Amino acid sequence: MATAARLLLLLFLTAAASAWEMNIRLPTEMLNGGEAVVAPIIHALRPLLGSGGQLAARAGVACDSWRLGVEAHNVIGWKTVPARCEGYVGHYMLGGHYRRDSAVVVDEAIAYAESLQLAGNGKEIWVFDIDETSLSNLPYYAKHGFGATLYNDTSFREYVAEGSAPALPETRRLYRRLLQLGVKPVFLTGRTEDQRNITVTNLRRQGYSGWMELLLKPAVHAAGELQGSAVAYKSGERQKLEDAGFTIVGNIGDQWSDILGTPEGARTFKLPDPMYYIG
Ligand SMILES: *[C@@H]1O[C@H](CO)[C@@H](O)[C@H](O)[C@H]1NC(C)=O
Ligand SMILES: *[C@@H]1O[C@H](CO)[C@@H](O)[C@H](O)[C@H]1NC(C)=O
Repeated sequence: MATAARLLLLLFLTAAASAWEMNIRLPTEMLNGGEAVVAPIIHALRPLLGSGGQLAARAGVACDSWRLGVEAHNVIGWKTVPARCEGYVGHYMLGGHYRRDSAVVVDEAIAYAESLQLAGNGKEIWVFDIDETSLSNLPYYAKHGFGATLYNDTSFREYVAEGSAPALPETRRLYRRLLQLGVKPVFLTGRTEDQRNITVTNLRRQGYSGWMELLLKPAVHAAGELQGSAVAYKSGERQKLEDAGFTIVGNIGDQWSDILGTPEGARTFKLPDPMYYIG
């Protein structure tokens, strides 16, 4: 119980946007320098649970295998992170692992974009998801069990309304490189029209600008809406873009529902997200 209380306290401390900023910067150094540099608060937690899976495995808990199953889209339709994996997912997200995995995805995406023979006709676009792709809701999820507690539409909307979500720096790096290359970014999100203003504000605050379009779902307030068919919605919106003469040269998101469904885009990139599943 004392351990749980301490973990909870630490999670609250790390939940503040400023703490996330700290965590988000420190692992950047790790990308070049190996495992050594970790935010002190994470370091203090590491001996308790570990993010590499070894300690979890010793306890008979294979949370790393679960996460791989999620990322490979073998484990689907899940509503919460398994309770035993809350600590594992927390360490994965707040330590350097999540950032390293994201960097691998974005490095590939940038290499691909740079290899393209672009027509430069202003019709070449790249589709970006927003949550856990362009912006990170980790400050929210750190306070809600890293996905181990059931999704609460009301409290999540309250968080979104703050417009305080930090950028995922890797995605922002891709975004800016694409602008330099002349590929136009299009945001396609499960966020709803009533969240347009705050989403624009949040994106601008986090250094995103110059997008061609921001496509949101019609405003629906029904709880559990996250479980609706995101594949149908998103592929339908991409089809409209292609019908309007645009070429989707790339598409990036954290959910398989961001990148499944014709037309997917010439290439798709899947960012990690072990915190929630949207089908
Ligand atoms: C969901 O969040 C709202 C707002 O924070 C809260 O009032 C409500 O009790 C939460 N619902 C559940 C089931 O936890
Ligand atoms: C969003 O911003 C526009 C322009 O700033 C404003 O006209 C509109 O009323 C705002 N909508 C909402 C829902 O706040």
